[in-house]
Amino acid sequence: MFHLQDITKIYRRRQREVVAFKAPSLDIGLGEYVAVVGPSGSGKTTLLSMLGGMLSPDSGKVFFEGESLYDLPIAERTRRRRERIGFVFQTFNLVPYLTALENVQVPLFLHGVSKAEQRDRAVALLEQVGLGNRIEHKPSELSTGQQQRVALARTLANNPRLILADEPTGNLDPDSREAVLSLFDNFVREGRTIVMVTHDPAAAARASRRLCLNDGTLVVCEESPVAKAA
Ligand SMILES: Nc1ncnc2c1ncn2[C@@H]1O[C@H](COP(=O)(O)OP(=O)(O)O)[C@@H](O)[C@H]1O
Ligand SMILES: [Mg+2]
Repeated sequence: MFHLQDITKIYRRRQREVVAFKAPSLDIGLGEYVAVVGPSGSGKTTLLSMLGGMLSPDSGKVFFEGESLYDLPIAERTRRRRERIGFVFQTFNLVPYLTALENVQVPLFLHGVSKAEQRDRAVALLEQVGLGNRIEHKPSELSTGQQQRVALARTLANNPRLILADEPTGNLDPDSREAVLSLFDNFVREGRTIVMVTHDPAAAARASRRLCLNDGTLVVCEESPVAKAA
């Protein structure tokens, strides 16, 4: 799914350089469930952004399904992103004046799905994330955890083969957290791929592989007690 080659990403600020991410080589296979862990500032979001076609490295190449992502024209890169990648970030970007149902219908509408089918599929997706009884609520009428679940339903509406998630369970209530993680389990069971940044050791333990970052480089993971028990 991904092959990264000689990547460096450096931020320059007032004469100072920060190596945000650096890796000679990294592969992520189809169907893998990867947890990216590491302290704050270690480069997790930088890595995720480069995988998602949103941040070009200063050197090296990011191959996504065989294509060098940053050698594609921007319009093509945007299309790959829209058609193949689902993003689950902490800022959900739900449309505030649309209901949960309408928010989930947006990508279906953009794909030219008929009105009746938009509704049926959006309802089914909201039921999957445990919000079948909240479909007419607007984001401001939902808890943070419920908003995150609406965003996840909207992401799934695109039927992506890859999910990139940045702390998808951060600040969630236990029910929402479990709803998100069990959806991820199912997603991977269908042979699809997830790369998830997380601070949550129990979430990281559910992944099939952990990538540990420190100061922008991949390091050998210290086994957490939770990972050992799993
Ligand atoms: N836009 C930016 N400009 C300058 N430095 C940045 C920028 N984004 C991130 N950094 C720096 O790059 C490093 C990695 O950041 P980030 O990938 O956000 O880490 P993480 O997600 O692991 O907390 C940090 O030292 C951060 O301060
Ligand atoms: Mg981050």
